[in-house]
Amino acid sequence: MRAIQIDRYGGPEVLVRRELPVPGPGPGEVLVRLKYSGINFMDIHTRQGKYAASRTYPVSLPTTLGIEGSGTIESLGSGVEGLRVGDNVVYCICWGSYADYAIVPAWRVAKVPDALPLDMAAASMFHGLTAHYLANDIGKLGPGVTCLVHSASGGIGQLLIQLGKRMGATVYATTSSEAKAEVARKRGATQAFLYDNGRFADIVRNLTNGRGVDVVFDPIGRPTFRDTLRATRTKGLVVSFGSVGGPIDDINPVELGEAGSLFLTRPRLADYLSDAETIRRRAADIFGALIDGSLSIEIAGRHRFDRIEQAHEDLEARRTIGKSILEIA
Ligand SMILES: NC(=O)c1ccc[n+]([C@@H]2O[C@H](COP(=O)([O-])OP(=O)(O)OC[C@H]3O[C@@H](n4cnc5c(N)ncnc54)[C@H](OP(=O)(O)O)[C@@H]3O)[C@@H](O)[C@H]2O)c1
Repeated sequence: MRAIQIDRYGGPEVLVRRELPVPGPGPGEVLVRLKYSGINFMDIHTRQGKYAASRTYPVSLPTTLGIEGSGTIESLGSGVEGLRVGDNVVYCICWGSYADYAIVPAWRVAKVPDALPLDMAAASMFHGLTAHYLANDIGKLGPGVTCLVHSASGGIGQLLIQLGKRMGATVYATTSSEAKAEVARKRGATQAFLYDNGRFADIVRNLTNGRGVDVVFDPIGRPTFRDTLRATRTKGLVVSFGSVGGPIDDINPVELGEAGSLFLTRPRLADYLSDAETIRRRAADIFGALIDGSLSIEIAGRHRFDRIEQAHEDLEARRTIGKSILEIA
């Protein structure tokens, strides 16, 4: 089978194409014949070595990249219940989806409803379940809640806007260009504007009569962090869920006090997808909304095995809007 692996950390040049034997599932595992893989920033972080010392997301080299895939169950390991050979399934946070086949723990797998195409399943699992736990469990969005979504035209951003809107929240959105801001408006943002070197915080203050928003969702990190604090209301919540722009490694808790007794959290999807029931519940919510049309995902780029470097470069250079996927079969 074909696989795209890394033996060392670095730029797109460390990606290696290999022919490997098809693995067999162990107890509690399934072998999935992959049709699509998501392409996520997490793949880039993995390639760069950001998880080299991670306890939540341990990586051992060599590794096959890709943490999200959809396809068909080819075979079952012993003890697997509730799944059958031939089932259409999708999963995330298990490395190895840039390949023809992947071994996945059965508890991580969700069945794909007949009404949902497999490409949409691969495009919606990782970002959809992330937006789901951020909106519901962390931000607790609802009527009367105001929030700010950074990187609003990205895969997660577009979903957060739509979920927030559906839950009755007021959703402000920031992006790096007017074209991306227009995408955020089309997804339902109450107002969308540019980061503008941190001046987004002043706009948010003006829009909220000087108060600031209840919750900020910030996947960017260092470049936006300090102005994110300024945009948050007294005793509000800062959700730092990523660091695409660079890590925040210089925060003194006193700053949170000075900014208005703020709460800061750095949540990880793995802790909000810790059992089969939770995975299937969140997936059912997202898939149901995609099927009934109340949630939309834009597939920004469809790439083949031989174009994966380009896909990584596009994501890193902020050229994408929405979600990119790898077409495998
Ligand atoms: N904590 C969690 O549970 C969790 C789960 C999933 C992903 N994440 C993290 O969330 C972040 C977003 O990942 P994603 O795959 O989901 O991508 P994404 O939502 O599609 O976000 C990509 C967008 O980030 C924005 N961005 C801002 N600064 C950037 C920079 N310096 N370089 C590149 N893009 C930049 C760009 O939009 P603009 O040009 O408009 O700024 C770009 O379109 C990653 O750090 C990822 O690891 C965290």
